[in-house]
Amino acid sequence: MSFYVPDEHVDTFPIVYSAKQPTLTQFHRALMDKGRGVDWSFTPEQYTNQQLAIAQSQWAQRAIAEYQSTAQFSQLLYRLTLLGAPLDMIGAATRLVTDECRHAELCANFSKIMGGGDIDIAPETLSLYNEAPLMMACAKSILTACCFGETLSVPVLRVLAEVSTDPLAKRISTVIAGDEEYHSRFGWEALTYFLQQMNATQKDDVQMLLPTLFRSFERSCHGSPEIFEQLVDTALTFEEGASNLGTLPSEGYAAIFYATVEDTLFPRFQALGLDPEEAWRTRYPTS
Ligand SMILES: [Fe+2]
Ligand SMILES: [Fe+2]
Repeated sequence: MSFYVPDEHVDTFPIVYSAKQPTLTQFHRALMDKGRGVDWSFTPEQYTNQQLAIAQSQWAQRAIAEYQSTAQFSQLLYRLTLLGAPLDMIGAATRLVTDECRHAELCANFSKIMGGGDIDIAPETLSLYNEAPLMMACAKSILTACCFGETLSVPVLRVLAEVSTDPLAKRISTVIAGDEEYHSRFGWEALTYFLQQMNATQKDDVQMLLPTLFRSFERSCHGSPEIFEQLVDTALTFEEGASNLGTLPSEGYAAIFYATVEDTLFPRFQALGLDPEEAWRTRYPTS
């Protein structure tokens, strides 16, 4: 079963910024800027080429992740309607798509004004769990994109808002952090609902997905069992210091990941009757 039949196969395509139709632009701006306007003044001369290159790359990576979220939440929204999910859940989920489009644009624009080039998207990264039965596809997408993805991104963006000395980087991080907080909360509520609908086998299926998700988010947050050992007794501190365009070193992302797993993910999963310790212990298969 496949949900996606492209007109022609492409490995990647670039993010396109505008259809150059004034009415579409006006509709788009009204939704994107609502209470979240950004002053795009920026003076690249304040920064070294190396700072700009690192920031371009990190914000372009964020733009890709936000574009993927736009697609994944659109797919979730469609599946929720197909499943006959409660209207208040569908309504609450509509905001996720708008927000992610805003984030993709903010991150891509910021990368671009720092001199970044095209930002390419791989179509196969835009959908989740195409082989799963409908309710499990909804629940697993929520678990992955919201309970893991959004919950881990909130503290990262809060730290970025803190350490950014550039007003534009600070503003973008603050806007995105506020939206992601909603996405994370939506996720935990929606997962609670779906777990209540599941039989024991379906709940086991969710539990069995946890080790893979711990492992893949650990990797995408630049962590590993070795780095975990190094960081385990290190206090998590980020200080506002030298000029910063909304970037962190790799170990910063990893430290936030481990702190959030312990402080938020473990207690949340336990409260839902899942076993995060077992999942964490078995996240790297031994054979
Ligand atoms: Fe986002
Ligand atoms: Fe989000």
